Order: sequence, then C-alpha cells, then structure tokens
Amino acid sequence: LDIVMSKRDLVGRTVLVTAGGTREPLDPVRFIGNRSSGKQGVAVAEAAIARGATVILIGANLEVAPPLGARVVEVGTTLELQMAVDAEVATADLVVMAAAVADYRPTEIAPTKIKKSSDSNTLELRLQENPDILRQISTNRARDQVIVGFAAETEPDDETLLQLGRAKISRKGCDFLVLNRVGWTEGFASDGNTVIVIDTAGDRVGEASGSKLSVAHRILDLVFAAR
Ligand code: CTP
Ligand code: CA
Repeated sequence: LDIVMSKRDLVGRTVLVTAGGTREPLDPVRFIGNRSSGKQGVAVAEAAIARGATVILIGANLEVAPPLGARVVEVGTTLELQMAVDAEVATADLVVMAAAVADYRPTEIAPTKIKKSSDSNTLELRLQENPDILRQISTNRARDQVIVGFAAETEPDDETLLQLGRAKISRKGCDFLVLNRVGWTEGFASDGNTVIVIDTAGDRVGEASGSKLSVAHRILDLVFAAR
C-alpha cells in the first residue's frame, strides 16, 4: 500500500543508504558483530526508490533481500563500509547511515582458527577503535547534503533517550538523528519500529511508529521537509 500511494517527490535525487551491521573477523571462522538485521535501512532504500530517487544501498551482512532498483554494494567490516561510503558519498543528496557499525575491531586477525588454551580459562581480546564514518562525512561534506544518523539505545524512557541523542548529534555533526529504543526483545529482527527524529539543535522534529516501511517514508518526509 505504501508503494502504491507513494508520491514521486524524489525524482532526480540521489540517496545513499547504509544498512545492516558490520562484522569484525577474529579468525577465519569467527567475528564480533551486532544484531542489526538491516530491515530499517533496507526499508529506507525501498521507500526512496518508490519515490523516484536514485538509490545506492551499502549493505553490511544484510539478513533481508535488498530492494529491486537499488545499486547494491556489499561490505563486511567497518573499514570496508568506510571505503564504500567514501567512494559513493560525493553524488548523494541525502545520506542515511542506518547501519550498525562495529566501534572496534581486533588489533590482529588470527590467520588460523584460535584454539582453546589449556593453561587459562579466560581469553583476552585486544581491540582497536574503528573510524567514525558518520562524523567524517559530516565534517568533510563539500556541499549541501543532508546527512542522517541512527542511534539505537537501551535507554529505559524517551527522556533519557532524547538526552543521549542530543549529546550524540552534536558529537557527530549530522543534520538529523533517528533514535529508537532497543533491548533483548525489541528492535532488531522485528518488522515494526518506533522512532524519534531530532535535529542539530536537539529539537524533536517528529516521530513515527509502525511498519519499518512506513517509518522509512516518514523519515524521508521529515528530512526532506527541512530542505
Ligand atoms: N557510526 C559510524 N561510524 C562508527 C560508529 C557509528 O558511522 N564508527 C554511525 C552509525 O551508522 C549511526 C551513528 O553513527 O548512524 C550512531 O552510531 P552509534 O553507535 O549510536 O554512535 P557512537 O558514536 O558509536 O556511540 P556509542 O558509544 O553509543 O556506540
Ligand atoms: Ca557505536
């Protein structure tokens, strides 16, 4: 229904969406990752396509099929995501960073499977911080681009979620931050979502609740309304 009713208001615009979650290998068979399915980011790509945009979808370990009509670039790690974003960002009028990005990667990747040690029952991993892609593209933007970040937080209520969101958007330098609450049982693999969108001033510009596709359309409405 969303698709049938879509307005074609993004014809001539290019939208770059990152979706999914990056994974950092420890050895040939293991990784450090997160529970992002990619559904909300894929829904943003789908909504933008329906509205006539040219869509580039950078997918990190997507658990759902990308929409027809997007140019898809597949990545695994945060460094690969960074390279793909750097290669594609110049043409984008809107960048939506929905991907859940691994903040750290192992300082070294073991060339063979890590074996259990016989002399210790603990294992220490040493991690190196990954680059902050959203902050970099927000800082380096050359022109009038709209940049949207996402933050999934385990805050207990909207007030603390908003406080955290305000601090985060000022650190990132993006134009909008889409906030949602996540937990052991809410958020990730589900088909629905509830979000609050804030701007650089930290003001609440809107909220949305419903299917991830309807939430995606609402996010596009809010961020393009500000143009
Ligand atoms: N992000 C990014 N590069 C990173 C980490 C995050 O581009 N290395 C982006 C995400 O895609 C998302 C936004 O930044 O759009 C917020 O991610 P989040 O993990 O909430 O922010 P962090 O600054 O990593 O803060 P936290 O300590 O809460 O994880
Ligand atoms: Ca993070």
